[in-house]
Amino acid sequence: MIVFDRKTNCFFLHGKSFSCVLWIDPNGYLTDLHFGGRVGEDDLRAFDMRTRPVSFAPTPPDSDHWFSLDIAAQEYGSYGQGDFRAPSVIIERQDGSRASRFHYAGHRIYAGVPALGGLPCARKGKETLEITLRDVLSDAEIVLNYSLFEDSDVIARNAVIRNRGKDPIFLPRAYSFCLDLEEGGYDAVCLQGRHCAERMPERTPLGHGAYSVSSSRGASSHQMNPFLALLSKDADEDRGEAVGALLVYSGSFLLSAETSQTGSVRLQGGINDLGFRAKLEGGEEFITPQALLCRTEGGIGQLSREYADFLRGYILPPAYVHAPRPVVVNNWEATYFDFNREKLCALADRAAELGIDTLVLDDGWFGKRNDDTSGLGDWFVNEKKLSGGLAPIVDHCREKGLKFGLWFEPEMISEDSDLYRVHPDWAIGKAPRCTGRNQLVLDMTRKEIVDHVFSRMADILGRYGVSYVKWDMNRHITEFFSAELPADRQGEFAHRYILGVYSLADRLTKAFPQVFFEGCSGGGGRFDAGMLYYFPQFWTSDDTDAFERVKIQWGTSYCYPLSAMSCHVSVCPNHQTGRTTPFFTRGAIASLGAFGYELDLGALTEEEKAAVRAQIAAYRESEPLVQSGDLYRISDPFKGNRFCVAVVSKEKSRAIVVGMQIHAVPADTDHRIRLKGLDAGKRYLVEELGYAARGDTLMNAGLLLPRLPDFGCFVWHLKEA
Ligand code: DGJ
Repeated sequence: MIVFDRKTNCFFLHGKSFSCVLWIDPNGYLTDLHFGGRVGEDDLRAFDMRTRPVSFAPTPPDSDHWFSLDIAAQEYGSYGQGDFRAPSVIIERQDGSRASRFHYAGHRIYAGVPALGGLPCARKGKETLEITLRDVLSDAEIVLNYSLFEDSDVIARNAVIRNRGKDPIFLPRAYSFCLDLEEGGYDAVCLQGRHCAERMPERTPLGHGAYSVSSSRGASSHQMNPFLALLSKDADEDRGEAVGALLVYSGSFLLSAETSQTGSVRLQGGINDLGFRAKLEGGEEFITPQALLCRTEGGIGQLSREYADFLRGYILPPAYVHAPRPVVVNNWEATYFDFNREKLCALADRAAELGIDTLVLDDGWFGKRNDDTSGLGDWFVNEKKLSGGLAPIVDHCREKGLKFGLWFEPEMISEDSDLYRVHPDWAIGKAPRCTGRNQLVLDMTRKEIVDHVFSRMADILGRYGVSYVKWDMNRHITEFFSAELPADRQGEFAHRYILGVYSLADRLTKAFPQVFFEGCSGGGGRFDAGMLYYFPQFWTSDDTDAFERVKIQWGTSYCYPLSAMSCHVSVCPNHQTGRTTPFFTRGAIASLGAFGYELDLGALTEEEKAAVRAQIAAYRESEPLVQSGDLYRISDPFKGNRFCVAVVSKEKSRAIVVGMQIHAVPADTDHRIRLKGLDAGKRYLVEELGYAARGDTLMNAGLLLPRLPDFGCFVWHLKEA
């Protein structure tokens, strides 16, 4: 609920369990009085210590009310007027002056959520507060959007910056949001990583000064996810204050938490300003990406559940959120580039026998592509490699009752490609260019290029009745330069690039609503809420080793739902680590996401084939839980010798518990797994153990951990008895 109190000039925004109170102070500044647990619509100004003068007070019109920007809790930090913390926006005029002073100019409260001009954002919502601020020193105007949602602790925010004058202005920085938290003293939690080790949680105590996480790679990246949480010192998995910021954005980003002289913390971020500089002609506006802020007192676990519910309810493509997912076999780890019609048809035969429903043909089916040095951009079937083209393979799949999926890397171009030979200027940057995985990047800021890629992909999808697309992106951007942008707009390149990617994804998913899209970026390099707006699932990591996956999936679940994680059973020794884990373990861990296979099914033993059939049946059984249930993380694989999570249905009548013993320990004493998230008063049958007990017994006394070998897994299904 959003309320404006005219007497006090305060806005009250009430989420499920938080309130946010904003105050237009007598000088016209928009300040923050409270962001925390629920409060009544009482006059909070009486306790506002921040009205005490310290320094740098802009000439106050009202001498009773002293105010200092140096310490005030602001809703959007400005530059050059006495707030020496990092500003949220910088407005640069033609004469080079940059100071700005934003004052309240009006507001409106309306039902629903704003559309953000080509940016992915919450699809629907309860109501929105839109506050307009005007710069006393320039013609800039800022609109701050705050949207609230039914039964949610997420508040969606973004800023729109407008030029109301005639002369151009420039934005060397334009963040999405700013939140000044009065108390400070938090630990920051980020999801850092690298290729094959994405989203590893890292907790760091905040000291004075700025802590920031960012990507300047033109993609949200493997190295840092666009997520930052602040935890109170006492907060853990299950209790304590957690404040999260998650960007609905897939490009270069920055999130920072700056501890000020008073110990308060400014949490803010959005587009990374490294290399960024937007130009606004008179009348133009710049729309910043949406940030999803969330506050809970139930620790990082509750924060994760809030984000999972939010992404499922408001971001992911609605038609696919709760629908059964295709169980695929992908040929990448089975064949890499070395495939032909016979091999693919044989893989399809095995897949059909085992109950898999889709064959996904990965990299190498197009152009002249037999390794990663050529062919990207030539989205025509390589008939030399696939005699007779794709049609016989698609027909073969159809005869076997299988659907057919294809891999694309739409944003890329190889120097050794027909497309490059005709359009060398379609690659970004200037020669000599920097290659990554031997490839260049297409200039997605240019409409004619996006149109071309759309028409090539649409042709292939339509012609072969493709039911599944894996959209890959295998290198980051180095030269941020478009031959078509004027010099004073090159600073917009990175953002325009990602808008081009979004427009292509939007057009394709709308033109082919029956096609299931999976995102991918050299593994999980662009696993973010922006891509999840178009693609219901994302390839979580190129590391398919079950033990590595336990860690990657654990970290990913901090802010993304399980159903968004695409997870495959692969062969052992594992191709990335050389490790051997039990077949059962590989199935159990992959079942904690959108399930599939990535191996040569023809090389399976009879025992393994039976296991595949059993795994698919078990996955279909637990799929509704994985898609819609609540995740409780029980044993942290980063901290101990075991991993365990429970997924509990919303009405708490069913649960699945999956655990792994990382290393077997000789002469180990007994350990108990204390379950979480059950209804204390309900009785549950643990099917595998034939044991029934009340929820509180299972949560407080727990169940004995079975004796398991290295990387051995157990799975327990709980049903209300
Ligand atoms: C990276 C992906 O993550 C892999 O699964 C595979 O599709 C390769 N690219 C193909 O080049």
